[in-house]
Amino acid sequence: MLRTHTCGELRLADANKNVTLAGWVQRLRDKGSVLWIDMRDRYGITQLIFEEGKIAPVLLEAARNVGREYVIQIEGTVVERLSKNDKIPTGEVEVRVMKLEVLNASKLPPFTIEDDTDGGDELRMKYRYLDLRRNPVRQSLQLRHKMAQQTRTFLDDQHFIEVETPVLIKSTPEGARDFVVPSRVHHGEFYALPQSPQTFKQLLMVSGFDRYYQIVKCFRDEDLRADRQPEFTQIDCEMAFITQEDILNTFEGLIRHLFKNVKSIDLPTVQRMNYDDAMQQYGSDKPDTRFDMKFVEITPLTKGKNFPVFENAELVVGINAIGCAEYSRKQIDELTEFVKRPQVGAKGLVYIQYRADGSIKSSVDKFYSADELKVWIEKFSANPGDLIFLMAGEAATTRKQLSELRLFMGEKLGFRDKQKFAALWVVDFPLLEWSEDTKRYHAMHHPFTSPKPEDIKLLDTDPGKVRANAYDMVINGTEVGGGSIRIHDRATQQMMFNHLGFTQEEAKKQFGFLMEAFEFGAPPHGGIAFGFDRLCSLFGGAESIRDFIAFPKNNAGRDVMIDTPSAISDEQLKELGLIIKK
Ligand code: AMO
Repeated sequence: MLRTHTCGELRLADANKNVTLAGWVQRLRDKGSVLWIDMRDRYGITQLIFEEGKIAPVLLEAARNVGREYVIQIEGTVVERLSKNDKIPTGEVEVRVMKLEVLNASKLPPFTIEDDTDGGDELRMKYRYLDLRRNPVRQSLQLRHKMAQQTRTFLDDQHFIEVETPVLIKSTPEGARDFVVPSRVHHGEFYALPQSPQTFKQLLMVSGFDRYYQIVKCFRDEDLRADRQPEFTQIDCEMAFITQEDILNTFEGLIRHLFKNVKSIDLPTVQRMNYDDAMQQYGSDKPDTRFDMKFVEITPLTKGKNFPVFENAELVVGINAIGCAEYSRKQIDELTEFVKRPQVGAKGLVYIQYRADGSIKSSVDKFYSADELKVWIEKFSANPGDLIFLMAGEAATTRKQLSELRLFMGEKLGFRDKQKFAALWVVDFPLLEWSEDTKRYHAMHHPFTSPKPEDIKLLDTDPGKVRANAYDMVINGTEVGGGSIRIHDRATQQMMFNHLGFTQEEAKKQFGFLMEAFEFGAPPHGGIAFGFDRLCSLFGGAESIRDFIAFPKNNAGRDVMIDTPSAISDEQLKELGLIIKK
């Protein structure tokens, strides 16, 4: 062994012990006659002391010659420190070094390897292996490890079997584009990387596995955001002989187990909300329920007063910012600017200040009397001191825009504390969603999702109204997981493909294997997949999932460390049949 102890281990009780340590040079302080080195490994930092007169001059000289991030090994004696550091667990001791060996030198690192680094994003990504030496990044990955361990413990206890499914597959339509891999042996043919193991986990149910899970890489060629990576990880699960209720209960159990065992939090019962209510009350299918600020609709109350914005609007809807009546003109202007940004896209914002003295001031005083505004205020159950914001227009768009304002206000008012957690099941999603681009309906979740039996009759007459046995888990406004009860008979699956605009041949070509499997005794089944990276970043209190992935891609989908995507040689292209001749 190159060490007897780690750099995080020594305490006062170890005084006088002879020890061997190995690690990286974090920092060097040279006071002339005394020199200290902070030596780091994954477990912590230990201070080394080299003192003139007490050690051979050549040893002091050798210590002076090491630089930051050198890998060294030392032998020495543990002694009590004169000036203690109560910020680190090893802060009461230091090691008086008798022998120093440089195991490897290091170039000067391109950024400081400290908790607060001076390195910019791109630089840290290029030297990710150095970034990973920093405590916060390593701790994020340790959290991820713990989450994976606890997930396996819970699911194993519930008799789930972990099965690996293939990575070179055929395209599964989950709404994003596929990454494809050309076949060398079969020119002109391609594998696709799985967007999820959806069809395989359903086949495992046909095989009688009954309860399957996998912590699995998925690949989606879609636009990136803070909570999206082209390759990400799911906790993917499927169960047979269950109802939706069983799934919700089982996986609420998993989430509660994770909160309990990873964060020592007793999560209250997960609330349930149907999709329509979520859209109406929060303007979002993933509402942040850490705070209330529900939408209030006042459309009929606004009509007939010649205020054109409200007069022509399908919906007039607002939120109450409790205690904000004293907002200045400037503060309100700022919020108006916020909703007018192209990302939100609203035309404007109406406000009503219900002042502490009971008086009312609004941006629509010209059109509505104080008495009329009072009626609106009552609808909002607002109190003196409150500030109401209203938006108007086409219903779905307006709700979406107000949802942005609600989140922004929630942030401003400190309601979105990262250490508080509000989990929610959103249920009864629509089965289909209309796409303006393609002018047809698409499966909102995926084409294997079962319609609610009582709604099947609407498929021909009012497809947008058909609800699905589909659900999402939302925590703090993030969709952390989603799933559904599946179709498990050929006829219904075929009918679904018809409604989604597949010809019989297309459906057979793409999913013939699944429909055939349904003819060999497929049990009723359903499942869910959690976005593992998202769950980890939420537990870690971070905005971006990147720091919970060891080697993530940047915002442009590039890995700047290994420099990919990159060109391949003509030789390879030829072999793959991607260029005929050159
Ligand atoms: P879905 O497409 O909803 O369902 O994905 C499940 C969860 O995966 C996470 N997620 C992502 N995380 C990071 N980067 C991405 N690009 C990304 N895309 C999705 C989200 C999401 O809730 N096969 C179905 C599940 C099922 O029906 O059982 C599926 O993949 O947190």
